Amino acid sequence: MQATYIVDKSYEIAPIDERLFSSFVEHLGRVIYTGLYEEGHTDSDEESMRGDVLSLVRQLGVRAVRYPGGNFVSGYTWEDGIGPKEGRKKRLDLAWNSLEPNLFGLHEFMHWTQKANTKPMMAVNLGTRGPEAARDLVEYCNHPGGTALSDARISNGDKDPFGVKLWCLGNEMDGFWQIGHKDADEYGRIACETAKVMKWVDPTIELVACGSSGPTLPTFGSWESTVLSHTYDQVDYISMHLYFAKTDDDTPDFLASNLLMDSFINSVTATCDYAKTLKKQKKSINISFDEWNVWYHTRWGTDEQILKERPWSVAPPILQDIYTAEDALVVGAALITLIKHADRVKIACLAQLVNAIAPIMTEPGGKAWRQTIFYPFLHASTYAKGKALSAVTFSPSYATKSYEKVSYLEAVPVWDEETGSLTIFAVNRNTEQPLELACDLRSFADLHLLEHLFVDCSDLNRTNTKDREYIHAQTSRQGRLEGNRLTILLGKASWNVIRLGHEV
Ligand code: AHR
Repeated sequence: MQATYIVDKSYEIAPIDERLFSSFVEHLGRVIYTGLYEEGHTDSDEESMRGDVLSLVRQLGVRAVRYPGGNFVSGYTWEDGIGPKEGRKKRLDLAWNSLEPNLFGLHEFMHWTQKANTKPMMAVNLGTRGPEAARDLVEYCNHPGGTALSDARISNGDKDPFGVKLWCLGNEMDGFWQIGHKDADEYGRIACETAKVMKWVDPTIELVACGSSGPTLPTFGSWESTVLSHTYDQVDYISMHLYFAKTDDDTPDFLASNLLMDSFINSVTATCDYAKTLKKQKKSINISFDEWNVWYHTRWGTDEQILKERPWSVAPPILQDIYTAEDALVVGAALITLIKHADRVKIACLAQLVNAIAPIMTEPGGKAWRQTIFYPFLHASTYAKGKALSAVTFSPSYATKSYEKVSYLEAVPVWDEETGSLTIFAVNRNTEQPLELACDLRSFADLHLLEHLFVDCSDLNRTNTKDREYIHAQTSRQGRLEGNRLTILLGKASWNVIRLGHEV
């Protein structure tokens, strides 16, 4: 099987916003307790932050982390998570049927982001609360001092403002499952009023309005349009959420999941531009794809059972999907789609980061380890720097139950003018055969093939364990570059990162 790929540096899509490689931590399952934070763990520091997790998060290169939810935020009282730990209240968390001990709160999260070398992206509660609590939170976090709230932050130990730049106006407010669910007009109005007071406290912040929780919701489309009719002037981004699931054990169809992400992005972009036209605005609304991942292994059945057996417990082991090699291909292809939309998608959060639908797993009291999906994210966050380019692809294709034409090759080139490096990210969706890729790099001179990284996912159901990383990155030496013609073999069912540049 052969594919031809033409890359030209003048076919530019847009510079890639580094926040495309962000993630998400929620008070849910074992994300926080025994994930980020574990008292008494041998690798925990003086604040009970797990050092093994911190070092994997730093390695992963996560640029921003959304917090504290998710569904959890819609019932959360942020003031419960500040002040001396002895005085903090335990609360019922109605989103996940769990007990929230509030030992990890705002200050702990901010300290954790610094240790993890990442930035906070906060969500405010627009389920049970509204403009007042959100305004107070911005003042507590970002105002330098001299007011009751900013002085409270200082007396709770943090003299310097947290300087949180990115804020989500609630979470999945279109979903019937959401605490305080609203219709589009109700949400649009409260989001607008909340946005106003938040920006009056700190005009430098950026705001994300809730878009649809997925493209299959009956309100998808009209929700975005109505919400933007209320909030266009106040917000900067609209959110998108999407989780991929394998159905009917259909691998070829599952491997094409990112095509749904692609059409979803196109529809939301069109709706944003329609709202722009109606508003006669110059400013464009961009996209914060602030929840996406594969999620199906534990989704239907097992988690319900766990919550039934141990209701109101702290950190129940829910959403603990153990990812397969084919899941890594789906995550890799989704990353390629996000990069291809770099002109409008500015933020994207892999949901979530630790233990619940996550690239990093931990054992309570034990090890931390990398799931299969860790690698495509690591490679994209490390090497997708510069401008996304639009390539011309000629590839054999196949049909599935959901898509008429799926190219075996899914790829995107990224050009970093500053360092003179060209990186091609590529997935071979063919699970039976390798794909020979013939690249015409017509506008590039003096490139060298620096490295061909790949993850062999051909053992489709293979998973990693705490003791062995079966699925990991390897390097290949068989690619050939003659002039500006590159020929390289993409193994069957593989994720690939082809790095070209000046020889060092
Ligand atoms: O990430 C898990 C959950 O999925 C989040 O809490 C919610 O926003 C979404 O439905």
